[in-house]
Amino acid sequence: MRPSLYFSAVNTMHAFLKPGSSGFIKKKEKPVSTETTKDSHIPWVEKYRPRQIDDVAYQDEVVNVLKKSLQGSDLPNLLFYGPPGTGKTSTILAAARELFGHDMYRSRVLELNSSDERGIEVIRNKVKKFAQISASAVRPDGKPCPPFKIIILDEADSMTLAAQTALRRTMEKESKTTRFCLICNYVSRIIDPITSRCAKFRFKPLTLEILLKRLQDICSKEQVVCKEDALQALIQVSEGDLRRAITLLQSVSRLKGEEQITKQDILEVAG
Ligand SMILES: Nc1ncnc2c1ncn2[C@@H]1O[C@H](COP(=O)(O)OP(=O)(O)OP(=O)(O)O)[C@@H](O)[C@H]1O
Ligand SMILES: [Mg+2]
Repeated sequence: MRPSLYFSAVNTMHAFLKPGSSGFIKKKEKPVSTETTKDSHIPWVEKYRPRQIDDVAYQDEVVNVLKKSLQGSDLPNLLFYGPPGTGKTSTILAAARELFGHDMYRSRVLELNSSDERGIEVIRNKVKKFAQISASAVRPDGKPCPPFKIIILDEADSMTLAAQTALRRTMEKESKTTRFCLICNYVSRIIDPITSRCAKFRFKPLTLEILLKRLQDICSKEQVVCKEDALQALIQVSEGDLRRAITLLQSVSRLKGEEQITKQDILEVAG
């Protein structure tokens, strides 16, 4: 299907959302019970993704700035960068949810994953068209709503130069109705005219203490028995990437069932 056909109506916007993001929205509607047992099919990375920006651990600078912006129902253009699994994607998704709520999220937030959609065509056909749609300050039910949309460009450092140049123009032209959030690991791969239009935030590598606490928390909610030295090994093999650590923990716990997880189990599964 040609991309332009997607844009016949605003309510088809969700076609552009990553599959993970629509699941993410559904979960808000009906929060997942922490009682859910190990055979649940929800990836723990999604289940334990911070729901509000206040739940984002250790990234105080960006959290404080975003909280202030949200109080005024506004956002600057944003550029998040830093190592994997430190909360970049979670932070902007939480901010967007706080701004728009469940009802307006799909029509106001476009989330693109640049690893599979990074060329200039995507910028022309999806980003530009979404940016051009007007955004009213009033919701259909009459309540106030921020008068802009958010375009999240995840993994923006894999965008081609041509795509970045086209994006720069769209950013300039649509600045009244659209806020951009670019997310990447390497800020040096983003062209200056884009970075200079964004408030830049570096996400810090999470500390051992924080990683341990988050993982212990998940273990207790999922009734997983895991010794501390096993968790330490988990953190080590994941190189501080909390997403990797959580994913690995879920895999090992599936294999072990009710049994205690040992350091050996972690090392074997991490291979
Ligand atoms: N600062 C944090 N506070 C709370 N949870 C976090 C934090 N960072 C990561 N997580 C956990 O790790 C998972 C992955 O986080 P997220 O997708 O936000 O990372 P990321 O920085 O976007 O990584 P990548 O660069 O690989 O895309 C989340 O579901 C969440 O459970
Ligand atoms: Mg991410």
